[in-house]
Amino acid sequence: MTASATDDRDAGLAAQYEAYPYPERNPQDETRRLFIGSPSHLREVDYWVFGAQRPRSKPMRVLVAGCGTGDGAIMLATQLARADRPAEVVCLDRSTKALSIAQARAETRKLDNIRFVEGSLNELDALELGLFDYIDCCGVLHHLPNPAAALQTLERHLTPGGGMGLMVYAPFGRTGVYMLQDALEKLAPLTQSPEERLDVARRVMRTLPATAWLRQNGNFGDHLSGGDAGLYDLLLNPRDRAYTITDFLALLDQAGLEPAALMEPARYDPTLFLPDPRLRARLATLPWQEQAAIAEDLAGNMATHVAYVVRKHAGLTKPDPLDPNAVPIMREIPGAELAKQMTPDNMLPFPFGTLVVPIPLPPQARGILPLIDGERTVGELTAILATRGVNAEKFRHVWQESFHILERLNRVLLRSPA
Ligand SMILES: C[S@@+](CC[C@H](N)C(=O)[O-])C[C@H]1O[C@@H](n2cnc3c(N)ncnc32)[C@H](O)[C@@H]1O
Repeated sequence: MTASATDDRDAGLAAQYEAYPYPERNPQDETRRLFIGSPSHLREVDYWVFGAQRPRSKPMRVLVAGCGTGDGAIMLATQLARADRPAEVVCLDRSTKALSIAQARAETRKLDNIRFVEGSLNELDALELGLFDYIDCCGVLHHLPNPAAALQTLERHLTPGGGMGLMVYAPFGRTGVYMLQDALEKLAPLTQSPEERLDVARRVMRTLPATAWLRQNGNFGDHLSGGDAGLYDLLLNPRDRAYTITDFLALLDQAGLEPAALMEPARYDPTLFLPDPRLRARLATLPWQEQAAIAEDLAGNMATHVAYVVRKHAGLTKPDPLDPNAVPIMREIPGAELAKQMTPDNMLPFPFGTLVVPIPLPPQARGILPLIDGERTVGELTAILATRGVNAEKFRHVWQESFHILERLNRVLLRSPA
């Protein structure tokens, strides 16, 4: 067993990521693309964790706990560097091989705001890395022997006012995975080497019946396009548990944390699937946690939960989108492009994973979206719309509604002060 492993399964996990660092990445590819995702997109961190109130000039210390080959760390460090923001991104992992790939990716990008630490999350205190304004822990907690203890440890390493971006597996969208995992553990026991176990998985996949739930499940493609690392991680991982949103909220609660936002917030709103007014009235009587659980039950396709979390009762005040000095900013897709995606009847087809839901927008959103450039204030937008015959009162109304919808789709956010 490796020094940091707490039991045989944990030793198997350490061996897995040494043999098949995850995700499978070639550092040379950094010259031609940047992976963008959640959690840890800089604009999301600024908005959802810090409520668009933390000055961009304020140095930010980041921990990427279980960074793997570095997708999240490379994205965030690149975004921070491009925006010329003072920051240090500390990448922690216990896989030497994964860290060496993450490091090579950072070197290809000439990032000098990132450093790499080999060590275990279980021994975070002893590593004396200090406190962090933001901690990313993506796809890690659900593999650990004691996720609650690990999350509590991470929480102790947050600065006052700091927050985290987390991702854990969710059960319903992973239907079929655990059946295969059970079968493979019998056919390829943990006592075998990672290479032997992978070979067995490949053989099983070759003749997997068409009726197997895994085959019917299009919510993820790791086993099809993720190479050896993807197949191993999905089907042979020695420890992997999935959390319903109710389980996940309980895990957060135990660590003194609560969500600032689930990603995307609208995804956890069951009214999207329940137009019936009687059912909507009933939903309105339920606490948001139960509503989120209903959305997960009804959609059935959530394979992960992504959340930005802060300390309970942190008193995070949401920014006011109607403040004339507020600066709206597109998360990633330019406003003009998003406006083009609107259908003639003013619907925005929005992909919640594999499910595309038409979201109604005010027709005027088509004209407002292309004006959002991350520089113009709401006051300036009001003035421009006035020249087009939309008076201030009408603009206020339309903007409030548009922002509310697009914020909950994580498409339009507000910029932090300089
Ligand atoms: C599924 S990968 C996720 C990688 C990355 N966060 C991502 O989302 O692409 C899980 C990572 O957690 C690391 N890990 C697992 N247990 C750990 C521990 N106790 N301490 C540090 N890293 C650990 C593994 O080595 C592996 O690189």
